[in-house]
Amino acid sequence: MERKVCLITGANSGIGKEAAILIAQRDYKVIIACRNPEKGRKALADIAQYSSIDSIDLKIVDMSLQSSIQKLSKSLHEEYSKIDVIIHNAAIFDITQKKPIISNEGVETIWATNHIGPVLLDRLIIDLLKKSPNGRIITISSKGLLAKPFLKINFNDPELLNERFDVVKAYYQSKLAQIMYTLWLSKELINTNITANSIRVPAVRIDVSKYPKLPDFLKSIYKFKSRFSLSPSKMAETYDYLSTSAEVKDISGKYFNEKNQKVKFGKYQKNWNNIEKLMNLTSKYIK
Ligand SMILES: NC(=O)c1ccc[n+]([C@@H]2O[C@H](COP(=O)([O-])OP(=O)(O)OC[C@H]3O[C@@H](n4cnc5c(N)ncnc54)[C@H](OP(=O)(O)O)[C@@H]3O)[C@@H](O)[C@H]2O)c1
Repeated sequence: MERKVCLITGANSGIGKEAAILIAQRDYKVIIACRNPEKGRKALADIAQYSSIDSIDLKIVDMSLQSSIQKLSKSLHEEYSKIDVIIHNAAIFDITQKKPIISNEGVETIWATNHIGPVLLDRLIIDLLKKSPNGRIITISSKGLLAKPFLKINFNDPELLNERFDVVKAYYQSKLAQIMYTLWLSKELINTNITANSIRVPAVRIDVSKYPKLPDFLKSIYKFKSRFSLSPSKMAETYDYLSTSAEVKDISGKYFNEKNQKVKFGKYQKNWNNIEKLMNLTSKYIK
């Protein structure tokens, strides 16, 4: 049987890296798509220690840049005849960010990385997923959205440029968009061999050293919170389950928690008018 291939974005750290280890150990070929070559090479060597070097491939991509995603797609088409799983794990959220950061393609980077990038990547490599007998697209959202029941997509200003920038709002809006995109995608793919599901990630331990500007009081809060947080390796078990388990082979358009259980979408999230509006808006961003 042909070896299965799983692409994980942002797999040089945290949950994505742990998921890469678990999935590589199942003898999948795992492509880790990372923005920083040095961090990517280090992750590749680390992951290979738990599997084999032949199980891991490194690709460089900046998910905030459409030109970079296009290069990734080109390179994947040159080297792979199919892709079985894609996990849209890469995301940015730096609580110390006070102002919007605009990419050199002119888009606010949280919106670009966490929402537009995954949609574009799927569009570019959907032909490779269609060549898999059972393609799986997995998006990553956040349990933190439960604490924001009134959050909506700002259809007039999704980059939040015309209001006081709030990094928390920008991040959760992008994660809301990913859930709604997953529902849209599963409907688009209904008569294909490809499923689309989303994972609701709860508080998972992060590496605070990634955020040098974090003030001491926030470091203490993160430290305290980490006592009640899941480890990245535990959370990665759900990534692995949705990517590889035969149990979910034909399940699409669902939202899973860290216990591999299906959870409900919110009313706003599953409203089809909202979903279509979001996808029209998203298409306008895609060059
Ligand atoms: N940890 C939590 O409590 C939590 C809660 C809810 C949801 N989540 C979600 O879970 C996923 C994994 O998070 P994590 O906790 O494992 O955090 P993490 O270790 O920071 O992982 C995020 C990864 O995304 C990469 N990334 C960021 N921007 C990128 C870009 N433009 N292009 C390519 N890669 C990029 C990062 O690379 P660099 O190392 O180069 O920055 C990093 O490897 C994310 O989608 C996150 O939103 C996490």
